[in-house]
Amino acid sequence: MDQNAKKQAVGRAAVKYVEPDTIIGVGTGSTVNCFIDALADIKHQITGAVSSSEASTERLKALGIEIFELNEVDSLSVYVDGADEITEHKHMIKGGGAALTREKIVAAVAKTFVCIVDNSKEVGVLGKFPLPVEVIPMARSYVARELVKLGGDPVYRDGVVTDNGNVILDVFNLEILNPVELEKTINNIPGVVTNGIFGMRGADVVLVATDDGVVTK
Ligand code: 5RP
Repeated sequence: MDQNAKKQAVGRAAVKYVEPDTIIGVGTGSTVNCFIDALADIKHQITGAVSSSEASTERLKALGIEIFELNEVDSLSVYVDGADEITEHKHMIKGGGAALTREKIVAAVAKTFVCIVDNSKEVGVLGKFPLPVEVIPMARSYVARELVKLGGDPVYRDGVVTDNGNVILDVFNLEILNPVELEKTINNIPGVVTNGIFGMRGADVVLVATDDGVVTK
């Protein structure tokens, strides 16, 4: 099975975690796009969605799914999103699509975080995928110097402005042995909006698409 077929399989599998008459949280990325496509079959059963990016909002709206502002809702039954890397402890690196901050906020509100990946995303230790860090533009150089002190090699993601008007530094060559600790340390650098380690709020359920089908963890 090629990677695209795996993304479609895992996107379809996530639909069973959607409860009728609720507002759901929807992440960002090519795997989530497959989930959104699969939502078409049950779109009349849900009240609507809170989206983590302008891109997902457009896709959801195209299906006729009502979009809610996060401030309008008290809770979300489920949040479905992909990941760039995930460990057996359900810690993740996210933000390859630059949507990490809104993703982290929406995930925080959701009762259940369902992470959907193909098996190429499973790793023993996080860090081979460069860690995205969203930064207030005026702090870019300062934050980059601080990230070097932590042992990383930050690279400015040229030309990318996040949905929040900020920039992204991708940090190469980190071996993230303690995701929760590093997540807090990087978030404490002045000028950092957030970083792509999802350690404090990991996934609750992981659906992994393999050649033999979708495995639930
Ligand atoms: C976007 C993300 C995505 O979930 C992550 O990049 C995975 O994307 P894809 O499903 O396209 O591989 O965090 O900010």
